[in-house]
Amino acid sequence: MISLVEKLKIVPVVVLDRAEDAAPTARALGDGGLPVAEITLRTPAALEAIERIAKELPDTLVGAGTVLSAEQAERAIDAGARFIVSPGLDEPVVEAARRAEVTAIPGVSTATEIQRAWNLGLRLLKFFPAELSGGPPMLRSLAAVFEDVRFMPTGGVSPANLGDYLSLPNVVACGGSWLTPKRAISAGEFGTIADLAAQARAAAARFGA
Ligand code: 3PG
Repeated sequence: MISLVEKLKIVPVVVLDRAEDAAPTARALGDGGLPVAEITLRTPAALEAIERIAKELPDTLVGAGTVLSAEQAERAIDAGARFIVSPGLDEPVVEAARRAEVTAIPGVSTATEIQRAWNLGLRLLKFFPAELSGGPPMLRSLAAVFEDVRFMPTGGVSPANLGDYLSLPNVVACGGSWLTPKRAISAGEFGTIADLAAQARAAAARFGA
């Protein structure tokens, strides 16, 4: 999972109100060169959306986002999630993912949280909310003390600042919702999503993606 994300450099964060939009959205991302989707567990449709992508698009790396509890992690994994992203660090969530041999990427924004995660054996963490937590300068400072920790900044990342993050050696990939605007999904404008994904891939390619 980590090697694909590292290669693609971008993890689209997707909020779906209708499960039937899941496969067309993931297909559009794949058409744009990003066969990966983090489906946030913020809507009742999320678990079915994960299930549909896992079944219909086996080449798409589908994961769950906004995973707040171990129970949610288990349900998402049962639905087919191959990675688990959380806004914060919660040991039971990390353990649930480990039991299922699925990658857990908890969110952190302070040195204390990173140190706790490091002592749980985690080396890839979501830096969240990235822009409000200090952005690239904060990640640069953290690199000095957490030499073997790598980050997936998410929250406030956009085409305007993507390069600032991806140019950092301790950034594996960026997460963001800008690739899948709610409006485009509800209007069935999946071509827009494919275009946004292709633009992001092209921008990321400058950083070795
Ligand atoms: C998330 O859902 O993990 C983030 O809130 C996405 O942040 P963004 O909407 O600023 O990209």
